[in-house]
Amino acid sequence: MTTTPKVAVIGLGNIGQAVAANLSKSNRSFIAADRNAEKAKSLSSQWGESAQTEDIPSAVKNADIVVLAIPFGAITGFIKEFKADLEGKIIVDPSNPIAPDEKGGFKKIIGEKESAGEINADSLPKNAHLVKAFGTLGAASLAGAAYQTPEKAVLFYANDDEETNGTIEQLITDSGFDPIRIGGLDQAIRIEVFGDLHEYGALGKVVTKTEAIAKL
Ligand SMILES: NC(=O)c1ccc[n+]([C@@H]2O[C@H](COP(=O)([O-])OP(=O)(O)OC[C@H]3O[C@@H](n4cnc5c(N)ncnc54)[C@H](OP(=O)(O)O)[C@@H]3O)[C@@H](O)[C@H]2O)c1
Repeated sequence: MTTTPKVAVIGLGNIGQAVAANLSKSNRSFIAADRNAEKAKSLSSQWGESAQTEDIPSAVKNADIVVLAIPFGAITGFIKEFKADLEGKIIVDPSNPIAPDEKGGFKKIIGEKESAGEINADSLPKNAHLVKAFGTLGAASLAGAAYQTPEKAVLFYANDDEETNGTIEQLITDSGFDPIRIGGLDQAIRIEVFGDLHEYGALGKVVTKTEAIAKL
């Protein structure tokens, strides 16, 4: 018998709430965790029986897949703090390494050729895998384009560990999108902001599988 891996969504801001709401629509159960426990509890009531609220340390301990929907600048510290409990797990990283610029837009805060995914993966404990996913679209599109008809929208992901591709693809499917793997983490830069496969990069929009394949 195979069991569905338990997913925890950590950080219930714009992206965390969209991921949680999308999972609840397919009845995929998940743990919702935020450093503000009251916020987590009240949001979870909107997501019905799929959502179970836990504090962050328990959520990390009890999950097989940890979606870290927290700012890029907080991820390395988070991984270090929870290193022991993240061992052997899948960490899903939607982060974009950006900050407001002086002109009302955004600028990249790491080297031009660097990706947040590769930087974050450097802090991982033994046997843990970081998958870059769920950050390819802005939060409004992640919420609004889920379960799109007649053709589903795509979420790209980058993963070094081919054995876990199926697990990630199921998670993306359970979120109402079609998954497309673009390669290993050395490709993560393509699906972060300013990348050629990001909504806020050369791609410029939400795409279906047919449109996405033409871009790859
Ligand atoms: N917004 C977008 O359109 C978008 C698109 C793609 C990817 N992303 C990426 O997705 C991630 C989340 O973005 P967001 O827009 O959802 O941000 P957000 O709305 O600001 O939410 C961030 C969440 O992370 C929590 N948090 C911050 N530091 C933390 C820490 N050290 N430990 C635990 N929780 C912490 C915040 O808690 P508090 O409220 O207590 O601060 C909040 O719940 C970011 O990495 C971002 O780059 C965002």
